[in-house]
Amino acid sequence: MAETTIIDGKAIAAEIHTEIVAAVEGLKAAGKRAPGLAVVLIGDNPASKAYVSTKTKRCAEAGFHSVQVNRPGSTTRDELLQIIHDLNEDPSIHGILVQLPLPPHIDEQEIIAAISPDKDVDGFHPINAGKLSIGLPGFVPCTPLGIQELLLRHKVQTSGAFAVVLGRSNLVGRPAAQLLSQKGPAGDATVCIAHSRTRNLADLCRRADILVAAIGRPNFVTGDMIKPGAVVIDVGINRIDDASSKSGSRIVGDVDFEAAKKIAGAITPVPGGVGPMTVAMLLRNTLQSARRHQGL
Ligand code: GUN
Repeated sequence: MAETTIIDGKAIAAEIHTEIVAAVEGLKAAGKRAPGLAVVLIGDNPASKAYVSTKTKRCAEAGFHSVQVNRPGSTTRDELLQIIHDLNEDPSIHGILVQLPLPPHIDEQEIIAAISPDKDVDGFHPINAGKLSIGLPGFVPCTPLGIQELLLRHKVQTSGAFAVVLGRSNLVGRPAAQLLSQKGPAGDATVCIAHSRTRNLADLCRRADILVAAIGRPNFVTGDMIKPGAVVIDVGINRIDDASSKSGSRIVGDVDFEAAKKIAGAITPVPGGVGPMTVAMLLRNTLQSARRHQGL
């Protein structure tokens, strides 16, 4: 059997980063504003803090104008709406990202809907979600876009393939299924969205030529759920206890990587697979927004 390809998201994200740096230098040389991204973090969820600091750091490295707005978990809905209003009006900002989850007293959908759709680089606003669902151009959520980019750069044959997406979230599962089923490159697949109520889940997964795991359960996808030669995209980022590690824990995906890599044709590792691509796509969406806002 041919050797399994480990899809190196970190390396591909680094390539994209280099492309973005060149584009930003071009913008600046043409006398235009650098792309501006505002990341809003409410509260001190440790995972969110880590994601936000990576996003802000990558932006700075790419020459973006990067703003981080940190507020305590006690921030009110009205205060957050005011922050978003100010960022919507700020001409130096082309992308606004409110890190999720928000504290339980704040309605996430109301906050997302308050972001100007033309600065919604997360692609979560109902206008952008609607555009994706009917095939119009708009901002597409970064993780599904990163998956699409990995499939494109690895020349994975998606046309006519049977793809199973495990998970139906608005952030990943649903938009990933829409991208895979839309017409065109990295699309034209026959797609099934599976979830916690799906019957015979293992049998369904075993039929998938492309399996996208986005359910947030460590090592949920076992080797026997994978079709020999399938392309496996692991979106999970789960922290599990590990006494042998210095920190006492480590990050694993939704797929049992060691078992899966013996069966799959290609697989993304965790960490170093989809994660870095999410950040790269956030920068790309923000660059695109900066161009559009400046008439380019
Ligand atoms: N929380 C986990 N992933 C994401 C993401 O891609 N965007 C935002 N805004 N919050 C998240």
